[in-house]
Amino acid sequence: MKKIAIFASGGGSNFKAIYEKIISGYIPAEISIVVSDNPNCGAIKFAKKNTLSTFIINKTQYPNLNTRNMILKQNLIKAEVDLICLAGYMKMIPINIVLHFENKILNIHPALLPDFGGKGFYGMKVHEAVIQSNATESGATIHFVDDKYDHGPIVAQEKVIIELDDTANSLAERVLSIEHRIYPELVKAFCENRIIWENNQPKIEVVIDN
Ligand code: GRF
Repeated sequence: MKKIAIFASGGGSNFKAIYEKIISGYIPAEISIVVSDNPNCGAIKFAKKNTLSTFIINKTQYPNLNTRNMILKQNLIKAEVDLICLAGYMKMIPINIVLHFENKILNIHPALLPDFGGKGFYGMKVHEAVIQSNATESGATIHFVDDKYDHGPIVAQEKVIIELDDTANSLAERVLSIEHRIYPELVKAFCENRIIWENNQPKIEVVIDN
């Protein structure tokens, strides 16, 4: 059974979607730690309510950057983490974590990367930029994490058509419902060792039930 670390800074609706699929037995995993920079965010409140172990990492707790990065890594190792799921985590993942957990960190982004990604593209800002660009489609992307924002190898993408009367809010709502469906599926595939790497590109091995 794989052990998962969730990293979240906000409401944590993706975290909750993954958690529910773990509780129901659909994903063969357990959440061994929930990490946040914000002790008061919805994700941490939800984790505590469900007696999950939590860890707060920020400048207030650990002012020194090197100490902060080292302590985070130690805590992930202590929690025996096999997979890190970024679910609305607002901080850059430090390089010591990226290297130690190579090909074991997933992120979800609410647009079709590489478009509308990178520094400054977070939350509603993404959807506002998409609407302003007059793009005809958007969607959600899941990718492995490297040392740049929204940059590593893409493993799944699902599109939505943008309607003429769409606003950033209505688009966000539709994209989020895709996220809640595809992120648990990807986590399940990872936990069942169904993500295969070929030429440095991840592919999902699909199981067909007869
Ligand atoms: C999602 O839109 C996700 O794509 C992005 O941050 C948002 C997090 O939402 N990375 P939630 O906290 O999971 O509700």
